[in-house]
Amino acid sequence: MAERRPQPLVFDPALSLGWEGSPIDGLSCLLRCVEAVLRARGLTRLEVARALALPVDLAGRRRQPGRFRSGWLAWRNAVDGRTHWDEFRRLVRSGQPVLLMPDRYYWPGDEFEGRRHFLDHMVLAVGLNDTRLVVLDTDAPPADDYRRPLAVTPELMRGACRFATIHFASPRDTAETLRETLLAPGADWLSADMPAVSGFAESWRKQGLTGPLARGLHVVALGEIQPNLYLTSVAVAEEFPDVTAAAGRAAAGARHLGRLLLAAHRYAGDRPDDRSVYEPAIDSFLRLRTALDEYTDVVHHRLGRYRTQRPGDPEALWKRVARTSRWCFAEDVAAPTSDTNAGGLPMISLSPPLALTRSQELLARAARVDATMAYSGYVLPRDQMVPGEYPMYGERAQGSYIWDVDGNRYLDLFLAGGTIILGHVDPVVSEAVVREIRDGFAITLRKKVQVELAELLTDVVPYAERVFLLKSGSDATSAAVRLSRAHTGRERVIRWGYNGWHDWCANRPNGVPESARQSVSTFDFNDLDSLRLEFDRYPGEVACLLMMPFEEVPPALGFLEGAADLARENGALFVLDEMRSGFRVALGGAQERYGVRADLVTFSKAMANGYPISALVGREEVMRTVVNVHIGSTFHINGAEMAAAVATIGRLRDTSVLKDVETLGTMLQRGLAEQIAAGAVEAHVLGVPQMPFMRFHHADERLRQLAQDAFYTETIRRGILLHPNHHWYISGTTTADDIAALLDATAAGFMAAEAAVSRG
Ligand SMILES: Cc1ncc(COP(=O)(O)O)c(C=O)c1O
Repeated sequence: MAERRPQPLVFDPALSLGWEGSPIDGLSCLLRCVEAVLRARGLTRLEVARALALPVDLAGRRRQPGRFRSGWLAWRNAVDGRTHWDEFRRLVRSGQPVLLMPDRYYWPGDEFEGRRHFLDHMVLAVGLNDTRLVVLDTDAPPADDYRRPLAVTPELMRGACRFATIHFASPRDTAETLRETLLAPGADWLSADMPAVSGFAESWRKQGLTGPLARGLHVVALGEIQPNLYLTSVAVAEEFPDVTAAAGRAAAGARHLGRLLLAAHRYAGDRPDDRSVYEPAIDSFLRLRTALDEYTDVVHHRLGRYRTQRPGDPEALWKRVARTSRWCFAEDVAAPTSDTNAGGLPMISLSPPLALTRSQELLARAARVDATMAYSGYVLPRDQMVPGEYPMYGERAQGSYIWDVDGNRYLDLFLAGGTIILGHVDPVVSEAVVREIRDGFAITLRKKVQVELAELLTDVVPYAERVFLLKSGSDATSAAVRLSRAHTGRERVIRWGYNGWHDWCANRPNGVPESARQSVSTFDFNDLDSLRLEFDRYPGEVACLLMMPFEEVPPALGFLEGAADLARENGALFVLDEMRSGFRVALGGAQERYGVRADLVTFSKAMANGYPISALVGREEVMRTVVNVHIGSTFHINGAEMAAAVATIGRLRDTSVLKDVETLGTMLQRGLAEQIAAGAVEAHVLGVPQMPFMRFHHADERLRQLAQDAFYTETIRRGILLHPNHHWYISGTTTADDIAALLDATAAGFMAAEAAVSRG
């Protein structure tokens, strides 16, 4: 991921693209506002040009206004701005710049109103308190740095009727993507549309141009042709300098035509029926046609393609101009209206694939010796996440990042299966482990750190009176089950969630004795009736109810307490499997978070920031049964990972890590939800903030999978490691900038998903 240094949010003509003293010199006021936001996020001029440039589309094929190749504007429209003022205020106050297209009737006027713009004016709202709205405005005096303070009055609020949030991924264009998503479609469209341009000229010459059509034409010239060709000329300057020159000439031609038409409108105002008013502009239109033709030739020549032999609709430009006029000025326009030109190319700038050569070499070697490779159809495809796209072998990690064996860096949102909470290679934890290793961590006798860890656990975990330390999560849950059976003298277990790989809870039946499975049953999460049914089926037989407190969906209010009550009413123990939630949703885990009380609790994962250790904790009266059961393993008393656990829990207790993780998770979930709401892909955000997730939906499972694969392909290529099939985790070293970069990638991911679905 490219490092970006945020810049101040300003209008600065010296740094801007084509700002020569008028808002329609290079970009429109709309694009100028978006440019300022992208520059503030640290994008270079070149990247801004690439982010904003679109293939020129004279026929109006693009169906989604506000869509760019790597971003979009999410518009909210209201007849009266007061109805969404609260949302506008919340967004601006949260520090988000908001694009505002005010209703001019209610907006405080300025000297340029309606004169310097080819359409409605747009400004960027950058500050708001109860009395004052501050906007960046291309029409504001340069001496005021283009900032305009406006009094917040009911009129102003009413005028704030259309606003948009701005969502862009960092452009990752290569010569290939510029060619495929910008130049090639633009040139194909233009060559198909050239007969329509000639037809328009012919008709203009014969019949003259009416005012409404002239207004539609100036919008197409200044809002479509000019900015897109100007931006293209900047965007491809490095790779395709000859295209740059031709695009620049055509952009200048469009600007000339647009300005002539704007000037002519003033005369036309006095003579509405006089079609000769626009006559002087026809030469400019013909010169623009020549420039567009030359540009099309240069691009085709450069890309080694032939011009399309299939001309488009000969009336396409008439229709577009008429539609534009109707839409922008509500003017009745006599022109062909049948709409035959739907479709268009997906607007997407896909990142190039990652280099994964070494990962793949290791994979091939492993296939000959590593038994886990035999899990084809299960573990391997799941770990590859999107086959061929995700790295398989890593080399090192630091903080919130990991590096694969090919040197690619990723923001890690899986965090070694949720075992990392402080960030990778936490120095305090490493130091504690190294100390233990140097002193000898397997020395026949128990080590002092075992007592220290047990004390710490009874201190921070609610109701924990005794501690049994083990190594893996499955160790701990299986110990809890055996203890419960011994304590109650019953065999049956009711369980929910993933609880490990041992016989009583294995996900796959193969190799598991039927007898082991027969004494275990499950129920539906957040559904107390289904749990009650299980208890009713086996009265007096259930040793324990063992369950995760939640997985993707948080527990409903009262559900966990209800489950605990049902267990106790039936003489069973209530065991919480806190492998994932422990030392993540709160220092005291789900018991603390949801105010529920368990007889036994199992922990592992985040407890030691990646080191292999687990714990079974609980009431003294139950834990005492340990003397009568066989639970134990050679490595259970090794000290290194105990030292890691003491250091990790101490850091979690003494710092704001858990709070920070929750805040960042909330930020991520909100950002994703906004992107989903603004886009066209069906998905929804799930989970608690510390363990967020997202699922895609589509009535057609094949398209759902396509969308999901396209999304995760784009995000991994952009250096974000998200698991497609398992909820994610956030660590204490993750920063707000990381989340912003992540959202940048997901924005591109959603567009890739959308393109994948539309391509089918
Ligand atoms: C909730 C839960 N319980 C138990 C386990 C089993 O732990 P382990 O894989 O360390 O055996 C896991 C592992 O992911 C888990 O998430």
